Amino acid sequence: MNILVTGGAGFIGSNFIYYELKNHPADNIICLDKLTYAGNLQTLDRAMKKDHFKFIRADIADRRAVYRIFETEKPDIVVNFAAESHVDRSIENPEIFLQTNVIGTSVLLDACRKYSIDRYHQVSTDEVYGDLPLDRPDLFFTEETPLHTSSPYSASKASADLLVMAYHRTYKLPTTISRCSNNYGPYHFPEKLIPLMIINALADKKLPVYGTGENVRDWLYVEDHCAAIDLIIRKGRPGEVYNIGGHNERRNIDVVKTILAALGKPESLIEHVADRKGHDRRYAIDPTKIHDALGWLPETKFEDGIQRTIQWYLDNRAWWEAIISGDYQNYYEKMYGNRPRLMEYSTL
Ligand code: NAD
Ligand code: DAU
Repeated sequence: MNILVTGGAGFIGSNFIYYELKNHPADNIICLDKLTYAGNLQTLDRAMKKDHFKFIRADIADRRAVYRIFETEKPDIVVNFAAESHVDRSIENPEIFLQTNVIGTSVLLDACRKYSIDRYHQVSTDEVYGDLPLDRPDLFFTEETPLHTSSPYSASKASADLLVMAYHRTYKLPTTISRCSNNYGPYHFPEKLIPLMIINALADKKLPVYGTGENVRDWLYVEDHCAAIDLIIRKGRPGEVYNIGGHNERRNIDVVKTILAALGKPESLIEHVADRKGHDRRYAIDPTKIHDALGWLPETKFEDGIQRTIQWYLDNRAWWEAIISGDYQNYYEKMYGNRPRLMEYSTL
């Protein structure tokens, strides 16, 4: 089987490629990636040595390039991870999010129609459901929760989901969608909460926590997400949406304190800074459907996964040092340089 993985040089896509190469060694994996700031060929070093793996640099929104790739590589399954993925960047500049996440998805869907693939899988996010109140721990996102987005990022992902559902209904394209909660693990780009806090703590730099730090995210170890997608593309029903999450809700401030404790660093490094605009309060997934329909359950507890992740960043300094020494410095300065500090939260 030929599996086209778009966005495979990023965090989750690369972990998925390694999952597939390990668990389905007879399948051919073709990775299509534009190599934006978030894509990194070094991440795919080990895959490049495998006969069943091929890398192609292209933009999913480039129709001619995408059609040519479908013609020559003849994918049976397409798994679309390619996206602009960072909420803060979408607040600064929404346009590229529409270009890649909406137009790019529509080009892939057209290619899937034209070349009659067996399955198109859209890697979506729990952010399409908006957020939940902090004082209602009994509420969870199910597949029936209405789409209700907050950021340009989540709006672009929800738009893509609607297109996928429309292509299934109108053209009978065999599609599936998964909506996962926050991932963490190896190869996570340093702009995101967990790697950013690990790397700053290692350098004894301030740890910028947005607002009070009471916002809640539902963390899932990346390999568990990959296992769920693997099940969906092989056994999931066309036309279905599957939520993915492991009931691992944590307040941001507690995640940051866990990282500091693991590294033996003081909590005085925490600095409360101006909140994210439109900041979603709480995400929490109800994974009953994927458990009942496909037998999926997460394997990694947060307590183990976070230690493993911290150890990975300690063991792979060269990977992240190469990233933070480049253009990322400009991003960091722009995002955090003039961000107001919130002294009133300093005792939390
Ligand atoms: P990432 O930012 O680490 O990687 C994105 C990859 O897509 C990069 O390799 C980048 O080069 C590539 N890319 C971007 N624009 C492209 C384009 N126009 N054409 C081809 N390639 C392009 O993202 P991630 O965290 O690995 O997320 C992957 C997918 O999973 C995204 O669709 C995201 O919305 C979704 N998701 C992420 C999380 C999470 O916690 N990170 C959770 C749920 C869902
Ligand atoms: O829920 C799934 C989503 O998770 C994915 O769809 C997104 O692609 C992915 O980036 C992630 O979005 P979040 O916005 O939840 O992740 P982020 O790591 O940016 O932030 C996690 C929480 O930490 C959020 O409440 C904001 C807060 N935060 C983040 C950063 C970068 C801080 O307090 N300080 C920071 O410096």
